[in-house]
Amino acid sequence: MIGQSLGLLRAMKANTAEKWLEDRVTKYGPISKLTLFGLPTVFIHGQAANKFVFTSNVLGNQQPQSMKKLLGQRNLFELSGEDHKRVRGAIMTFLKPEVLKQYVGKMDGEVSKHFEMYWQGQQKVTFLLLIMDILSKRYASKQELFNYSDHPEHMGVVKGIVNPICEDVMAVDWVANVDGPVVIRPGAVMRFNILNRWTLTFNIISSLLFGLEPGARRAKFVLWFEQMIMGMWAAPLNLPFTRFNNSIRARSKIQNMVMDIIHEKRLALEKQQVSPNQDLITSLLSIHGEGNVELLSDKEIVDNVILVMAAGHDTSSVLLTFMVQLLANDPIVYATILQEHEEIAKSKTSGELLTWEDLTNMKYTWRVALEILRISPPVFGGFRKTLKDVEFGGYLIPKGWQVFWAANMTHRDESIFSEPSKFDPKRFENQTSVPSYCYVAFGAGPRICPGYEFARIETLVAIHYLVTRYTWKLCCKDNNFSGNPTPVPTGGLPIEIETKKIL
Ligand code: HEM
Repeated sequence: MIGQSLGLLRAMKANTAEKWLEDRVTKYGPISKLTLFGLPTVFIHGQAANKFVFTSNVLGNQQPQSMKKLLGQRNLFELSGEDHKRVRGAIMTFLKPEVLKQYVGKMDGEVSKHFEMYWQGQQKVTFLLLIMDILSKRYASKQELFNYSDHPEHMGVVKGIVNPICEDVMAVDWVANVDGPVVIRPGAVMRFNILNRWTLTFNIISSLLFGLEPGARRAKFVLWFEQMIMGMWAAPLNLPFTRFNNSIRARSKIQNMVMDIIHEKRLALEKQQVSPNQDLITSLLSIHGEGNVELLSDKEIVDNVILVMAAGHDTSSVLLTFMVQLLANDPIVYATILQEHEEIAKSKTSGELLTWEDLTNMKYTWRVALEILRISPPVFGGFRKTLKDVEFGGYLIPKGWQVFWAANMTHRDESIFSEPSKFDPKRFENQTSVPSYCYVAFGAGPRICPGYEFARIETLVAIHYLVTRYTWKLCCKDNNFSGNPTPVPTGGLPIEIETKKIL
């Protein structure tokens, strides 16, 4: 029943999943049979395998039970055929480049506000950067204690770690107020009942996609969302006090809040107080099908708002985390990126927002991001399920079996990417030279990530502010990371920042 699940999960946690898979390939060949999460499974990799996984219409999507329950029955991952096309099409009307183009300025405003609130004025602080969630997942879930004396690198004046609005933060020996810094005294023991909430990527998505501005509502949303996420990979045991039960309760609170937001926005649209393109929710509410009825049901909007939040927030924060780590470790890449961004900054007057054209001049930065995603894809892989008996590579895969794909195995194939261990952003100078279905950090085919452009914009804007306004160095020399299931630096990547003179 358990089969190889524990072995794979253990390897992911220890950052040896790739080796685990390579060993399988050496032992059993390119196509092998295993049992994962209670189901008979076939592991396949490589260009032909990816093409099969991402385009075959005899494969349906397959998510773990816990994820299905938490994201909802009508989220894109669960939909197929015409339903998938309809809901995905509706989401894409807001996420397509032609629409997102107009939001670069708003994204800029959100990013610079974040840095002003949490970074500016801090001459030299030990900071846990944008990835507080990752750190807090590691150290501080519901019943855990986080003893700062065990982590001297995290001491100092840290703005934004704790959100005192949320009543269930428990902490001993710390001083905080809503607007000011949280002073963590050496030796303080902090108990978080909640997890990170002020991450950059979360704020961007809340504001741009859901029109949720800072305040008590957004704070609650973030709190519940983090509680929900904790159970995505947990055993689906809905019993009192299990992690999964906690997540189910958080999901139900989020659902009620999103329903309220939908009603408010529908009313505002009727009164023409907001435009259809105001945010993702107003956009979804404004699409009408036959008979002028709304194309998506409220349930579909709720489930997909939650999915977009889940799919978009962790992945982008992982990418930014690795970029920050790389830029601290690689002076050549850093200097090249800095030059690219300083040129753009110099061309602008004080306070002028970034534009879509500016982003097109950040080509090297995006190549670096793509190369990071090749080496450390935030989405390690995934599952599909056979809808009928199907043949692949000379083997018959029976109906109902899982098909498991893993991005890394193709990304590290030296017949596709020469010297695959070498970090080389030049590989993406001409993206059409990468053979199809070989670079799958964003998936491929009809389910290719619809958030690609959104992720690109937020990454480029965030890196622009980081390199033009701050310098930083890593507090720990530890470059290891573990898969949780997204890859996260084991030490949480604390950094020490210094504010630059603004150009
Ligand atoms: C670096 C950032 C990101 C990476 C690496 C990434 C990666 C992926 C991958 C690999 C898939 C396909 C999974 C599969 O086929 O099984 C996917 C799907 C998806 N992603 Fe992303 N993603 C990122 C950012 C985002 C953002 C910012 C959003 C939303 C704004 C988003 C929303 C989604 C959604 C809704 C799906 C499901 C699509 C479908 O089933 O049709 N992603 N993503």
